Amino acid sequence: MFLIMHVILDRPPPPFFDCLASKPVLMPPMASFTKNIVDLVGNTPLIKLNRLTADLPDNVQVFLKAEWLNPGGSVKDRAARGIVLDGLQRGLLKPGGILLDASSGNTGIAYAMLAAALDFKLLLCLPRNANEERKKTLVGYGAELVLTDPNDGSDGAIVEAQRLSALHPEYYYADQYGNDANWRAHYESTGPEILEQTEGKITHFVAGLGTSGTCMGVGRFLRDNAPEAKVVSFEPDSPFHGLEGMKHMETAIVPPIYDVGVAHENRTCRTEDAYDRVRTLGRQEGLFVGISAGAATHIALQIAHAEAAAGREATIVALSPDGGSRYLSERFWNE
Ligand SMILES: Cc1ncc(COP(=O)(O)O)c(C=O)c1O
Repeated sequence: MFLIMHVILDRPPPPFFDCLASKPVLMPPMASFTKNIVDLVGNTPLIKLNRLTADLPDNVQVFLKAEWLNPGGSVKDRAARGIVLDGLQRGLLKPGGILLDASSGNTGIAYAMLAAALDFKLLLCLPRNANEERKKTLVGYGAELVLTDPNDGSDGAIVEAQRLSALHPEYYYADQYGNDANWRAHYESTGPEILEQTEGKITHFVAGLGTSGTCMGVGRFLRDNAPEAKVVSFEPDSPFHGLEGMKHMETAIVPPIYDVGVAHENRTCRTEDAYDRVRTLGRQEGLFVGISAGAATHIALQIAHAEAAAGREATIVALSPDGGSRYLSERFWNE
């Protein structure tokens, strides 16, 4: 329509500029629309780090898989979509029914978005000390919250969800920690996207462990389709940490879907190093990311320096789960 009008008026449509190439790009007329927000999950960009890798040779490259650009703002849109569609397909979740689960925030937000869009209700257990941004977002989507004792951490929310599930068998207990649809969502979407976006050249994939769904799904996909690529998982270096969404496996309830054999290597990350990377990603790359994305970048840069020192080429992908706006009330931004 836009173009037709300009043809009728016999003048060219205004150019839009590709900022780096400075060449005019004609925008196509709007030919389609999105039927449901669910259809926008996935297909996130892969973004190359430039200034943070300036001291590395050109053949060692680090990319962030920008999962904060999912419609619900995090990588958990993928797992939640997989779990919800699987539950609907198997008749465990009925239209208008209640989905119950535990989440420290991102999966809850993803479920809440899907609940509103697909017409079911969400009952979510989460620790009372989950940050205000997350709780307000959940309420904004219309979710019902069960706040659990902060001293029990995310495991306390899991125990409460299990208790409610036993009391209410009519609810669909989605159990993201034990649900195979979680990791399968990544096997079917995140993994293939990364392989295609790196043109098959990926040498290392870095992901933190929460439910472990991302690492299990992408890791298995890469082992099946790019066996030369190394899968590197990481977790917080201590039980008391600030890497929200991640588990210190030694002291936490280990998710039933976690298989220690999927990653070739498991590393640890200090909260301070993650904070530091979050700040430098914002200030030097224009990427406003969350804490676990900062941690993944920290590990990816460690690998990049080791590969460069060994004289090897590397294409490293750091899975970046969410954006900085989920952590606005945290103090580390100014430290
Ligand atoms: C911010 C953040 N980072 C990392 C993760 C870990 O992802 P996964 O549960 O797929 O292991 C999560 C999970 O909720 C998260 O919210």
